[in-house]
Order: sequence, then C-alpha cells, then structure tokens
Amino acid sequence: MKTIIEPFKIKTVEPIRFTTREERERVLTEAGYNLFNIHSDDVLIDLLTDSGTAAMSAKQWAGIMEGDEAYAGSRSFYRFERVIKEITGFRHIIPTHQGRAAERILFGIVGGEGKSIPNNTHFDTTRANVEMSRAEAVDLPVPEGHIPSLVADFKGNMDLKALEALILRLGPARIPLCMLTVTNNSNGGQPVSMENIRRTAELCHAHGIPLFLDACRFAENAYFIKLREAGYKDRPIKEIVAEMFSYADGCTMSAKKDALVNIGGFLAVNDDALAQKARNILVVTEGFPTYGGLAGHDLEAIAQGLEEILDEHYLKYRIRMVAYAGNHLTRTGVPIVQPPGGHAIYIDAKAFLPHIPPHQYPGQALACEIYLHGGIRTCEIGSVMFGKTDPGSGEFRAANMELVRLAFPRRVYTQSHMDYVLECIREIFEKREALRGMKIVWEPEVLRHFTARFKPL
Ligand SMILES: Cc1ncc(COP(=O)(O)O)c(C=O)c1O
Repeated sequence: MKTIIEPFKIKTVEPIRFTTREERERVLTEAGYNLFNIHSDDVLIDLLTDSGTAAMSAKQWAGIMEGDEAYAGSRSFYRFERVIKEITGFRHIIPTHQGRAAERILFGIVGGEGKSIPNNTHFDTTRANVEMSRAEAVDLPVPEGHIPSLVADFKGNMDLKALEALILRLGPARIPLCMLTVTNNSNGGQPVSMENIRRTAELCHAHGIPLFLDACRFAENAYFIKLREAGYKDRPIKEIVAEMFSYADGCTMSAKKDALVNIGGFLAVNDDALAQKARNILVVTEGFPTYGGLAGHDLEAIAQGLEEILDEHYLKYRIRMVAYAGNHLTRTGVPIVQPPGGHAIYIDAKAFLPHIPPHQYPGQALACEIYLHGGIRTCEIGSVMFGKTDPGSGEFRAANMELVRLAFPRRVYTQSHMDYVLECIREIFEKREALRGMKIVWEPEVLRHFTARFKPL
C-alpha cells in the first residue's frame, strides 16, 4: 500500500474553537502582535511548537496511574533509568523538569568566563544557559545549512573544519565540551549524519574534549540516517540510535519532544565526578535525584514514550507527514527550508516577503498573518529570536535566516488539519505583496521573542 496512515486510532478527542477574523484581529492587537501572548483557546490549530504538545498513548496514561510517588527510590525512577540506559548506554541518568534545566545544571558546572561551547547550532535556551554562565556559545553549522533552498541530506551537520579551527585557536582547555543538536532545530530541523557525529566525536576526543548530544529529537534524526545514509537502510532504528549515542559522552534531553510527553527531561553522563556535581545542584534546585523536578507518574510516562518512539511505523508516518506538507508547499511555489525537516516546516520568510527587510521582521509579519487568516499559530525563528539591536547605538544585527516554523505536535493533528494549514499558507502567498513589516515597541533583556511587543508598520 502506498498510502501512509496514522499508526494509531483516536480514543479521546479535544474540541478546537473556531473564531472570526475580527475576533483574531482584536486578540492579536491585545497580545502586542506576539503569538506567545495569546490564549490557546483563541487558536484553531497550534503549530507554535512540537514541545510538550504530544498526545500520550493509552499505555502512557495507564503509566500515569502506575506512577510511584515515593520521594526516594521510586519504582518509576528505576524504570525511567533502565529505559534510558538501554537506549543511550550512559552511566548516570539525572531527571530534570525539562531540557533547559539539564542545560542549566550542565553549563553551571562546565561553563564560565573565558569558556566556549561549540554546537552545530545552539537552541535558544541552550545558548541562553551557556551565556548565563558567562561562557560563549558558538554556532558552527555546515555552510550549506545557511542556504534554505538547497536540497541536501544532512544540512544539520557540524562544520568540522570550523570546529577544528576553533579548537586550535582557543586551545582545548577553554572548550569544556562540544555539543551536537540532533536534529538541528534552529537550523531548519535538519538531521545530522552518523558520519558527522562520529567525526565530531573523533575530533573532540583527539583534543580531550567531551561530546554531548542535545538529544531532544534523537529518534527522528535516527530515522533520517536510516532513510538517507549509506549502510543504514536495513539496520533497526534501535541499533542506529545506540550507535549515535555511542560516540557521545553524555546528553541533555527535553523529553517533551521524542519522549512523547508533556513535561520532563534529563541529563545523562558517563563521567562520575560530573554526575556527582550535577546531582548536588539537582537536589538544591530540582529535587531528589530519583525524581528531579518530576512526579513519579511523569517518569513512568517518559519511560513508556521512549519505548514507543522507536516504533518504525510511527517514525515513517511522522517524517512522511512533515514531508507531505513541505512537498505540497514547494509545488505551490512557497519557499521553505529544503528538504523538509523532522518535526517542522520552516517557511523562508525572507524569500516569501522580499519587500520586507530583516529589520522589519518579515517572519513576525508572516506568522501574524497566518494567525489572522486561518487561526493557526506558528513561530518566528529569525531576527526577533536571534537578531539584536544595540541599545546604545541602535545598530541592528539580523539573524542568519528569517524563518517561520510550523512545528507539528506528535500524534495530535490529522491529514485534514494539515490540508487546512496548507490552504491557508497558499492563500496568503497569493496576496503576499499586501503584507507589511513590524516594529518592536517593547522588549525584555533576554529571550525577547517570548514577551516582546510589536506594532505593524
Ligand atoms: C534543540 C532543543 N534543545 C533544547 C530545548 C529546550 O527544552 P525544554 O523546552 O524542555 O526546556 C529545546 C526545546 O524546544 C530544543 O528544541
């Protein structure tokens, strides 16, 4: 059979609320044209993020009832630990309330003034946690990763030449660890090849630098390796995942992605001394080491979700659903980051709206119009998120790309929801000349995209 179907049936439904364009205009004005500020009841289809938005399975909900809420030594922790050890092979598994908590603990220990942390591309919270420790966050994606229209298999890869140059320039003592984000969320959700993971590890290890994976979407990355990299077509996904982790010395993970849960995360490391330091911080700021910042039932749901994510029927459906959206938009002429990534489609807002310059935030303008036109919430990943305006000189520094991300929650929306989204984007594309840019009227000191307020020009 050629038709790919959702590999599940629906047991519980949640109604979605339809609004009029007039209502959405009011909502958006009150929200300062920031989609993070609107109530989810005013959203019809929510593609703001794939993080924490998955539909849990019957077995996960059953696990919620099974959860052991003991303060210390919870049975659910031992299941969580066993499943993660089996998947990653790491020695120490430290639960945290979400991915950024694992990042804060890790960089709180290894970061600090004068240090540099290279990554294929830091996610915004990773960058913020590195910088909060006063270390420098360095993005080293391969050059083809910066060309949205270019079709290549592994545009999420690390630029190994640039990494080597950085190590030689700074010296390994200033690089406490190197990260690889799989898939590369801030760079189009593009996968990283096994060869690139292995070679990054070899280069780092030759200089005594540990390699950590930012492993939120490890299973989606592994499926791309199976589809695209020579020698992996017939390998079971579990083996591919095990090989990916075998090159690394640890990982941070937001379980809100590929563990199919609504909250949770972990830090996993091999280094005993690092694990001890991490647990010391954990017990002060997150919780006792057998629950981190989580309830026993969350640990149970994560363990179950991590087993479900490795189902190849699921991964095939997941990757094909995103490709379906991407291929449809490409055929209509809508410029997107090519090829479609693992968890999201990224519209190239710079090419979609060439008449709006980066300092007028074309991504924000497009995301707002997608909401106004179809009640669909998306997310700008461009100069609002990564650009900067110097408060003194007023000088504007644009991001590398101006993207609008349509992130697909796992197991939540059906094919007809997707068709509605595609129709909405198509209609906006036909009248794109009418769209106007945005200006920021207020912004906070860090992570401005979450709370900044805008006005249309
Ligand atoms: C690549 C990547 N790293 C880290 C994080 C942070 O995880 P969390 O939102 O659970 O703190 C995210 C979340 O979106 C992510 O996509």
